[in-house]
Amino acid sequence: MSDVPRGWAVTPSTGVPTVAFGNQKGGTGKTTATINSAGALATRGHDVLAIDLDPQADMTKGLGLGPGDDADPSNPKNDLPNLLVTDDSNLLDVLVDNPRTHDTALSEILVEADEYDHLNFDLVPSHKDMGLARDWMDDANARLSLKQALEVLIDDGHEYDFVLVDCPPDLSVLTDAAFIAAQNVFLAAQTQATSRDALDDLWDQLESIETNQGIDIAIVGLLANMYRSDGQSRKFLEAFDDSWASMAPVFRLPMRVAIQRAWDNGMDVFQWEDANDQTVERELFSEVAATLERAFERTEVEA
Ligand SMILES: Nc1ncnc2c1ncn2[C@@H]1O[C@H](COP(=O)(O)OP(=O)(O)O)[C@@H](O)[C@H]1O
Ligand SMILES: [Mg+2]
Repeated sequence: MSDVPRGWAVTPSTGVPTVAFGNQKGGTGKTTATINSAGALATRGHDVLAIDLDPQADMTKGLGLGPGDDADPSNPKNDLPNLLVTDDSNLLDVLVDNPRTHDTALSEILVEADEYDHLNFDLVPSHKDMGLARDWMDDANARLSLKQALEVLIDDGHEYDFVLVDCPPDLSVLTDAAFIAAQNVFLAAQTQATSRDALDDLWDQLESIETNQGIDIAIVGLLANMYRSDGQSRKFLEAFDDSWASMAPVFRLPMRVAIQRAWDNGMDVFQWEDANDQTVERELFSEVAATLERAFERTEVEA
């Protein structure tokens, strides 16, 4: 990390800009940031692949491809399949099999945006079997599994401008696999002491991965999420700025009803329209997308 300057990013072995959204603390906005950054990049004309690496499958559910909503018969999620319980091959097969020699490739499990009206980007969904990942992925090779699977996907001719990976809320082998595949990390944190402490541990983890794998990892952004305009939030924003702003831009997102409403209806905020104003979150995630374009030297694609 030390020799990767601010505003720059690392191009991974696939050649495709790839970003892992991480923080071992849950509920900080990783999944929200992944879905909406993917939506923003897609709205700006990019082909995007989003990968749900979290066994809790919040991104898959948040995009409507998990269980429906019994409490709300009109919810659009109810018309969509639940991909978390399919008997077909799933992400665990891809990660546990050696992707260079084995049968299950990412291309077999990915859901293309064209398949569903509400999807702005392609998705590799999670699956209920991913709960076993930590038991099965226990060797050094497992840490390379996502990187290798993505290399095979891109070698096979799938073309993407960006790949975004939603990490689980931990520093497990799955998260390591995401950091190694992406080599670029976007942090999502809340303006609280526990978030600041979690980021310190994450920093140590990134440094140890860099040393063990002999790779550079860039921090491409930090989302200071659900911040309030009180003294406590301001104090932690200053701490984030002191620690991280020299490496990466810090984006501030307040509590927003539209974020939750879009999520509840299985969409990113660029797809979801309702009476709640979406301007703040659309502008913020467009700015995240523009920052990623600059970091990877990609430009917005004219429609
Ligand atoms: N800025 C925000 N305003 C309102 N709700 C938010 C905001 N950010 C996240 N949420 C909600 O908080 C919950 C946790 O966010 P999530 O992105 O799942 O966190 P993580 O992936 O880090 O566990 C979700 O229900 C999400 O819709
Ligand atoms: Mg999440």
